Amino acid sequence: MSLVEDLKELEARAQELITGAENAAKLEEARVALLGRKGELTALMRMMGKIAPEERPLVGKRANEVRAAVEAHLESRIAEMKRAAQASRLASETVDVTLPGTRPHIGHQHLISQIIEEAEDIFTGIGYTVERGPMVETSYYNFTALNAPMDHPSRSARDTFYVVDNAPGTVKHPEAHAHGESDILLRTQTSGEQIHVMESQKPPIYMISPGAVYRPDTADACHLPQFNQIEGLVVDEGITFGDLKGTLDYFVKRMFGAERKTRYRPHFFPFTEPSCEVDVSCGVCHGEGCSFCKHSGWIEILGCGMVDPNVLENCGIDPERYSGFAFGIGAERVAALRYDLPDLRTLMTGDMRFLNQF
Ligand code: DAH
Repeated sequence: MSLVEDLKELEARAQELITGAENAAKLEEARVALLGRKGELTALMRMMGKIAPEERPLVGKRANEVRAAVEAHLESRIAEMKRAAQASRLASETVDVTLPGTRPHIGHQHLISQIIEEAEDIFTGIGYTVERGPMVETSYYNFTALNAPMDHPSRSARDTFYVVDNAPGTVKHPEAHAHGESDILLRTQTSGEQIHVMESQKPPIYMISPGAVYRPDTADACHLPQFNQIEGLVVDEGITFGDLKGTLDYFVKRMFGAERKTRYRPHFFPFTEPSCEVDVSCGVCHGEGCSFCKHSGWIEILGCGMVDPNVLENCGIDPERYSGFAFGIGAERVAALRYDLPDLRTLMTGDMRFLNQF
């Protein structure tokens, strides 16, 4: 076989080899095998010495043509591979900008936090400060300083969660309680904050103090073992029951609307005298009586009264000079009354179908 034929055959094989190379590594292998120092073309060129001198120019020309053809073929195959790689990357990384996006999950305040914040707005608007007290409290602040006798039933472990129980219900001198011998408990009411504020501030005092309170109650439609109160305290010269009534009427109208009526029912609390509970006219039946208000036309939302002189004295405030009023609003009750909630437990479950409505 002549060299020219060998070259022709090499060119044909090169074509096949290059076309068949499925990746860059295989292509490089083919290039080395065809054009490398120990490659096939070099091997053929070495045979030039063995052919007749007059044939050499022709064979040389053919050899150069074959080299150029193989190189061109290699280049176009490389370009083709790059194009294919880019096309497949574009296909796999395609973003369809017309698809709907993933909505971020934006939360919002819990209904009870909203109610508390609204109450803060109403009271700060008429000059009150907002105070925060401890939820883990001593029996001195939760009961004793609030004029609760040592045998008061709410001190028992049935009505109060004790954290450190020195001896609940056993009679101790109030001063012992003031000096760190108190039981430690989860506060059952925010009223203890009245004492903290009167101990640390001088009258005039106009404050509210919202926060969680705890009682060993089984949760049902109207009770929760953990709920929120908004305590209020005013101590100043010349404060009367008229101030208490005017303030709470103003709060109720701001919170529930101008058409709502209030009713003051006499009641007993150890730390206020006189004391009452305040009912708001039912928003479902407008006072006619319905199942929501247990057919009374009214719903109770708070306790209040004139601060007992003993409590002022416990805090070193002269009851001859100062008088005051206090109140404790149930935040969950306010929410239930405003939105006609039939079951308080829905406020604790974290069910977004319910909570998202507010
Ligand atoms: N602490 C009372 C309770 O939990 C509510 C209360 C009643 C608060 C009368 C007061 C008040 O400040 O004057 O039932």
